[in-house]
Amino acid sequence: MTPPAEISLPDEAATARLGVVLAGVLRDGEAICLSGPLGAGKSTLARALVRALTRPDEDVPSPTFTLVQFYETAAFPLAHFDLYRLTGPDEAFEIGLDEALDEGAALVEWPGRLEGRLPPDRLDIEISLEDGGETRRARLTPHGAWKGRTLEF
Ligand SMILES: Nc1ncnc2c1ncn2[C@@H]1O[C@H](COP(=O)(O)OP(=O)(O)OP(=O)(O)O)[C@@H](O)[C@H]1O
Ligand SMILES: [Mg+2]
Repeated sequence: MTPPAEISLPDEAATARLGVVLAGVLRDGEAICLSGPLGAGKSTLARALVRALTRPDEDVPSPTFTLVQFYETAAFPLAHFDLYRLTGPDEAFEIGLDEALDEGAALVEWPGRLEGRLPPDRLDIEISLEDGGETRRARLTPHGAWKGRTLEF
């Protein structure tokens, strides 16, 4: 499929599979921005993506308090941001969002905290919960370099 697209995420394994697929197409200098309510599955997707690019047993803590966690992969450094506790958009740049994208790739949870100062080459993934939380869907919207890229499921 070529985004924009909607994908059904019936269970946690489906969300993890999406992370693995994205690990195969994410490139240096690019971001994947994960939005959705608390417990939507943002960190589940991020963890699967990080493990696909590092090792299956890589420890992938949620950077809720540290705001960012860095990983080395075979191809490029990968930064995982969780901006939920950001005090303002400037803080994201103080903790190295621009540098992370200069040196490698970034996963960004809670990109709304950037108040529109979003990385230009990004795939937006919005996870929504329906039917009282039983059903999840991901809406994928490509920007910049992500436009026209095909994802194989
Ligand atoms: N289809 C699904 N995809 C992902 N997680 C699911 C799914 N169905 C149920 N879950 C459960 O929902 C929770 C998702 O938690 P996760 O930490 O990934 O969410 P999050 O979006 O990162 O939340 P937060 O905003 O609090 O960081 C997990 O407990 C997981 O087991
Ligand atoms: Mg999370």
